[in-house]
Amino acid sequence: MDDILQDAAVRALAYLDGLDRRDVAPSTKALAALSELAAPFPQQGEAADDILAKLDRLGSPATIASAGPRYFGFVTGGSLPVALAANWLAGAWDQNAFSTTSSPLGAALEMNCLEWLRDIFGFPDAAGGAFVTGATMANFTALAAARHAVLAQVGWNVERDGLFGAPPITVLIGDEGHAAMLKAVRMLGLGEGRVQRLAVDGQGAIRADALPLIKGPTILCLQAGNVNSGAFDPAVELIPAAQDAGAWVHVDGAFGIWAKAAPERAALAAGYELADSLAVDGHKWLNVPYDSGVTLVRDPGSLHAAMSISAAYLPDADTREPYDYTPECSRRMRAVEIWAALASLGRVGLAELIETCCRHATMIAEGLAAAGFEILNDVRLNQVMVSFGGDSVTERIIAGVQADGTAWCGGTVWHGRAAMRISFSSHATKDADVAKTLAAILRVAGSNSGG
Ligand SMILES: Cc1ncc(COP(=O)(O)O)c(C=O)c1O
Repeated sequence: MDDILQDAAVRALAYLDGLDRRDVAPSTKALAALSELAAPFPQQGEAADDILAKLDRLGSPATIASAGPRYFGFVTGGSLPVALAANWLAGAWDQNAFSTTSSPLGAALEMNCLEWLRDIFGFPDAAGGAFVTGATMANFTALAAARHAVLAQVGWNVERDGLFGAPPITVLIGDEGHAAMLKAVRMLGLGEGRVQRLAVDGQGAIRADALPLIKGPTILCLQAGNVNSGAFDPAVELIPAAQDAGAWVHVDGAFGIWAKAAPERAALAAGYELADSLAVDGHKWLNVPYDSGVTLVRDPGSLHAAMSISAAYLPDADTREPYDYTPECSRRMRAVEIWAALASLGRVGLAELIETCCRHATMIAEGLAAAGFEILNDVRLNQVMVSFGGDSVTERIIAGVQADGTAWCGGTVWHGRAAMRISFSSHATKDADVAKTLAAILRVAGSNSGG
């Protein structure tokens, strides 16, 4: 055991050490070498050190260097060193965070994290929560609680009787709601096609006057941080109005809600503390390793009703049993990295992490604008969209930047136009990386500007 774990640590450290020097995207040679993995299931197992050596030889060069300082694709956080270290230790512990019995430590860490997260996001002390794989499952978990609550209000027990013959639920989502939100709706039997889409402004935020008359069981899903523009739906106006009409208000705050933790950005996320439920990622802006997401629910009873299980071998619990709040039963101890990250950052470090990413977004947007390129969004958070002219030019430049290897930026479509999307979400990115990335983009743009 000692040898193989030492070997893994040495290889992992060498990998991390090399991140800054290698191309962000893997080479075609490294990707082609992955064909070596496609071998038949071996009759006899191989030696552990050979397996690790093979994984490192084939795997490490074939990774996307998203743990490094110049990966700006999707919304991808790095891993804080302490969060990665906690992840390694937790791997050795191999706890089943299912219950207080299977892992008292896991349950205690969840309790502590919930307290800190309620504090950060302004949720009341009594709010409940669950530690899941990411924002998609956090949205799903919260919507299950919402589905319970809005149907219970009209006397329907959805856990017992299902949706067959149930009073209809109206689900309201902005026109720019994330696809993951719609997936959660689908998985809960609420029907993506039945969702009422609400009109948005030029940044993709729901218009404050777009709320329809709310009647009957209704769930309003807001978004704190549009995946393209970073825009926030107007919570201050929409949440009280919807709640007064009896709706449950859920917030998909996958990355954007962390703005609340940075005093200079907190105004963007004003009012979200009033929501009935919130989904947030750990693996994006908190910079913990994949996979990690959290659901917070103002009324823990609704979450409990949606997720609890009972079985003869389970105690009648007075304490908070994790399995009563999550879709999964057995699962890894995700709270450990969140706990380590928050403990090491503290309020000041967390604010700095968020603020620095936002500052980097502004830096690159200003540099690109100064070079004559069009920034397509109001850069108020960590997301930047830029057009280099026509769609084909923009697409060529995106591909060119990815091939150049200095940095990695993805593409998107915004208001019908192709755009490069640059997301600043990692602690590893320093000012010099922003400068290097800007120079690389301008270099590629300079040699691709025709057509
Ligand atoms: C607003 C929003 N919601 C949900 C998701 C999905 O998150 P995850 O991939 O962690 O499930 C994302 C991912 O970028 C997002 O930006």
